[in-house]
Amino acid sequence: MTRAPGPRGGLIWGSLGAFQADPLGFLAQAAQEHGDIVRLRFGPVTAHLLNSPAAIEHVLSRNASNYDKATRSADRIAATTGDSLLSANAHAWERHRRLIQPVFQPKCFDGIKPVLDSLLDPMLARWRKAGRIDIVDEMMQLVIAAVIKVLFTSDIDPMRISAPLEVILADTWRRIEAPLNAAMLSPKLHRPAFKAAVRAVNDVVFDLIRQRRKCTQWPDDVLTRLLRAHEAEGEAQLSDTELRDAAVTLLLAGHETTANALSWAFIHLLDAPEIGDPARIFAEAIRLYPSIWVIERRAIAADVIDGFDIPRGSSVLISPYLLHRHPAFWPHASAFDPTRFAQGTPRPSAGYMPFGLGQHRCVGLYLANKMATHIIARVSHTVRLTLLPDQQPKTLAGITLRHEGPVLMRVTAD
Ligand code: HEM
Repeated sequence: MTRAPGPRGGLIWGSLGAFQADPLGFLAQAAQEHGDIVRLRFGPVTAHLLNSPAAIEHVLSRNASNYDKATRSADRIAATTGDSLLSANAHAWERHRRLIQPVFQPKCFDGIKPVLDSLLDPMLARWRKAGRIDIVDEMMQLVIAAVIKVLFTSDIDPMRISAPLEVILADTWRRIEAPLNAAMLSPKLHRPAFKAAVRAVNDVVFDLIRQRRKCTQWPDDVLTRLLRAHEAEGEAQLSDTELRDAAVTLLLAGHETTANALSWAFIHLLDAPEIGDPARIFAEAIRLYPSIWVIERRAIAADVIDGFDIPRGSSVLISPYLLHRHPAFWPHASAFDPTRFAQGTPRPSAGYMPFGLGQHRCVGLYLANKMATHIIARVSHTVRLTLLPDQQPKTLAGITLRHEGPVLMRVTAD
């Protein structure tokens, strides 16, 4: 048996404390000191951090049938999303993926620009008047409003969803990090604030589903396509609970991820040697700040990767954040430089995976790209954003890669 190298950590909890204190710093140091496969121990959990494209492809793609999502993180997320795309239940995942994938094809979002403009026009007018903004809060509000419109064609107040979603994400991350948690024994033991937030999101989503079912004219949006998805598949129609699970999953997976990536893009835009193609700017933002900064899988059977044993039932951690800053693949890795993505510029094909790899690759990637590129283009052609002098944006690793606090920017007309 060949054990991969790794930090010794404490006697009982291993490296849990170091990981909780600074997850990104801890993983970066572990990879730097021990190489591309690192054995870690978090209390009773053994995990291997993989940081080479070949090992990552092995787990997520080539030998994916041996790695499932019956992990701590998927289990904690399922407390909100039920049995849906982000859940561990393989059968429910397959059915949801089959039904959802066709309604997220690129052509489904051809008409998205006017929808985004209806939100961007008043937002940009307000920014010019205000002269300074918190880019983090602005992107959160913009993206949730856009996602609500694209999914449900609804004008409900975005705060009714974004405030509870924030509570849900923070509480879920707290439970992923915690070695033991009362809510593992019974859902009744969840924190009252978490239960209230889930109820608030459910009220809005069930209401939207009820209203849609009563409507005679269904708009062309994701909810309608989900209500009709079974027709092409010859399957049973999604029940209200399945629809709710799918809708909440999409809200949760699509909102903070896209909003945080956009904030990072605007924060760095002025450092860029070339402020050109919005697609390259977005690609570079999610290279340096991949919103899903860590992906977890469980080894169903024992495996061997690059000569190191991966025990049955142990966890595997893959961090797009580390991979995208790997010095072997990315020269000047920490510099923000969208020209890396110019056509013809050599870059490692398997060293870039902001949307994941294999069968679980992000369903929302076309939507995220379309939203982000249009928002970057409109904002950067209309106003000039500069960081206020005292601002030092810092990353905060939770379920997504967030900002440690507000990030204030000055707005001037371009
Ligand atoms: C910058 C924006 C985004 C990034 C960086 C991102 C990243 C990712 C990544 C890395 C995964 C794979 C996770 C894994 O393998 O365990 C994933 C899955 C997923 N994403 Fe995204 N995502 C983004 C936006 C969106 C949007 C806009 C939606 C939908 C509205 C969405 C919905 C999903 C769903 C449902 C899954 C689960 C897919 C599955 O397991 O089959 N994401 N995303």
